[in-house]
Amino acid sequence: MTVYLNGQFLPITEAKISVLDRGFIFGDGVYEVIPVYSRHIFRLQEHLQRLSRSLDSIKLASPYTDAEWTRIIDELVMRNEPQDQYLYLHITRGVAKRDHAFPNPPVPPTVFLMSNPLNTPSAAQLQNGISAITAPDNRWLRCDIKAISLLPNVLLRQMAVDAGCAETIMIRNNEFLTEGSSSNIFVVKNGTLLAPPKDNLMLPGITYDVVLELAATNEIPHQVRKVLLNEVLNADELLLTSSTKEVLAITSLDAKQIGTGKPGPMFAQLHKLYQKFKREVMRA
Ligand code: PDD
Repeated sequence: MTVYLNGQFLPITEAKISVLDRGFIFGDGVYEVIPVYSRHIFRLQEHLQRLSRSLDSIKLASPYTDAEWTRIIDELVMRNEPQDQYLYLHITRGVAKRDHAFPNPPVPPTVFLMSNPLNTPSAAQLQNGISAITAPDNRWLRCDIKAISLLPNVLLRQMAVDAGCAETIMIRNNEFLTEGSSSNIFVVKNGTLLAPPKDNLMLPGITYDVVLELAATNEIPHQVRKVLLNEVLNADELLLTSSTKEVLAITSLDAKQIGTGKPGPMFAQLHKLYQKFKREVMRA
C-alpha cells in the first residue's frame, strides 16, 4: 500500500511521524474519508469544501490549494491497486514541543493520506439491515468539525459492538436525534423521510446531502427538521448513511424490531437511486 506523507509517496511501512506530532499528543487535527468507485473520486469538490471548513474551524491554514489536493489524490488513487478505494486524509497542526497553545511561530502541518480497499455493505446487510442501539450524545458542541479526536465516537461505537450491534444512534438531551457514531441517521414515518438539520451537533455528511438531493429530484416526501427520540423509537424505517456504508437500513434498535424488521420501501428506493447515481457519476 502506497501512502502520501508530507510531500512524498511511499510504502506505508516507511511512513513515520514524530511522537511530538500534535495529532498524536492532542488529537489536534482534522480528517476526511472519500470513496472512490472504479477509480472515480466521488464528490471530490464537496469533500474538499468540508475539509476546508474543518481546517478553518480549527484555525489551521490549508497546506494545499484544491488543485494541489486534487493532484495528490489522483496520484494516490493511481498508485494503489483496488478499483474501489476509500481515501483517508489527515492533517494535523504539526510537530512542536508540547504546549496546548498553537506553536508560535507556526510549524508545517503534518499531511497524511492513505487508500484502503472500499468494502461496501455485504449482500446480507443489504437484505436484512443492521442492528443499532441508542445512547446519549455526550460529545462536545462542535460535531460539525471532522476532527481526528474521536474518543467519544470510539467509545460510543464500542457500546454497539459490545451489544452485538453495528452502530450507536446518538440522542442529545434525552430529546432529539443527532447522528450515528460514524454515520448520519434518517427516520422514515408515513412515507416521509425525516433528517436532522445540519448544525453544530452533527457532521454534515456528504452522503446525507446526496440522499436529500435524490429525495428532492425524485419527489420523495422529506423534511429537514429536529427529529425527536420518540420518532426514532417509533420509526417505520431507519436509515444510516456514510461514505463507506452508503445507504443501509437499520432494522433493529435497542433489541426491538423497526417496522417489519426488514428493510422497507424507502430503503429500497433510496438504495437503488444511490447506486444509479454512482453509476452516472462514474460514466461522467
Ligand atoms: N465517517 N457522522 C459521523 C460522526 C461520521 O464519522 C461520518 C462518516 C458521517 C457520514 O459522513 P459522510 O457521508 O460524509 O461519510 C456522519 C467516516 C466514514 C469515518 O469516520 O470513517
